[in-house]
Amino acid sequence: MVELSVEIPTYNEANNIGRLIENLENLGIDMEIIVIDDNSPDGTASIAEKLSEEYGNIKVLRRPGKLGLTTAIHDGMKVASGEYIAVMDGDLQHPPSALPLLLRKAHEGNDLVIASRYVKAGKVERFSLYRRIVSRAATFLAHAMLRETRNIKDPLSGYFVFRRSAVSPDSIKSDGYKVLLEILVKGGKKRIAEIPYTFKPRESGRSKLGFQENLKYLRLLLMLSEYRPLKFVAVGMSGVLVNEGLLFLFHNLSAFSSALSSLPLFYAGSLAIELSILSNFTLNNMWTFSKVSRGRLILKVLKYNAVAAPGAIINLLTLLNLAFLFHYLIANLIGIVLAFIVNYLGSEFFVWVKR
Ligand code: GDD
Ligand code: MN
Repeated sequence: MVELSVEIPTYNEANNIGRLIENLENLGIDMEIIVIDDNSPDGTASIAEKLSEEYGNIKVLRRPGKLGLTTAIHDGMKVASGEYIAVMDGDLQHPPSALPLLLRKAHEGNDLVIASRYVKAGKVERFSLYRRIVSRAATFLAHAMLRETRNIKDPLSGYFVFRRSAVSPDSIKSDGYKVLLEILVKGGKKRIAEIPYTFKPRESGRSKLGFQENLKYLRLLLMLSEYRPLKFVAVGMSGVLVNEGLLFLFHNLSAFSSALSSLPLFYAGSLAIELSILSNFTLNNMWTFSKVSRGRLILKVLKYNAVAAPGAIINLLTLLNLAFLFHYLIANLIGIVLAFIVNYLGSEFFVWVKR
């Protein structure tokens, strides 16, 4: 068995693949190289095939068309035979010189070792401001929605090494760019290490990471989180009904029985708000966050109230401040959206934190 299988997905990397392969061959690691090319019009696959005659440790998978980075990794895993698998880009932005350290860390007993831009001493060279912001925002969202990524600084890295037996190819089902996310979330607890590297500027060719990939990324986050934000919205809407219904009930008690007297608006409203917070909590605890709902109930109830309060205040402040600019119902809607964001992030990071 070979020690390391290096998977390189390529699409139009004719000017890069040769140099990358030579750099890899010079590392002196017992490896096989698997190039997964999606019928690149620029002939990347033929270049790799030529080199495979020279070196004898290169497999080239030709796929019929551009089928995406993640599925390329999936297909490469099926033919990989190494004890460890490395995943890296074919454009030299992931320096091969980091590979020996990645492998050494794996040998030290880690199931997964990530080359990271965002740990100390990690760097990104010449990234546009737009890419920087998108990358940071995407990382934040991953941390918010997927607990498995929270102690990883760069869960969106495309450069990493893992023990082949620790990850089943069948656990990789998505079709976007962020294969590491799926590896982190599926397949249970792993020993993970991160090492710094410098994400180099691209010297030749262009990035294939377009706007559509950002949308695919959001879809992947939703899927991996089991649609938690959507469930949270649904629960929130049920809370509005509970709130309105109870307010009506408490404010009109005398109409239901002559023995009861109706509550004044302030008391009826306060009670309705608190009870709707509690009903939201219950539904979120049993449904939205059922997978991560360990921890003491009373503590979570208190914490949930603590995140609901600022949410309500933000809602009200937005309404009052924006009502001059927009129709008051629009202003209120903006307030609701902001309150939702505060509540949701508070729930993810503060209320339901345990797996
Ligand atoms: N086979 C195949 N099919 N390969 C593809 C496809 C595809 O549809 N799309 C892209 N690739 C290959 C590219 O040829 C390149 O070798 C590699 O996947 C990465 O694509 P880039 O377009 O260069 O991505 P990037 O540089 O913007 O971002 C990369 O690095 C980031 C930091 O590690 C990706 O790996 C990101 O996922 C990563 O966050
Ligand atoms: Mn690249």
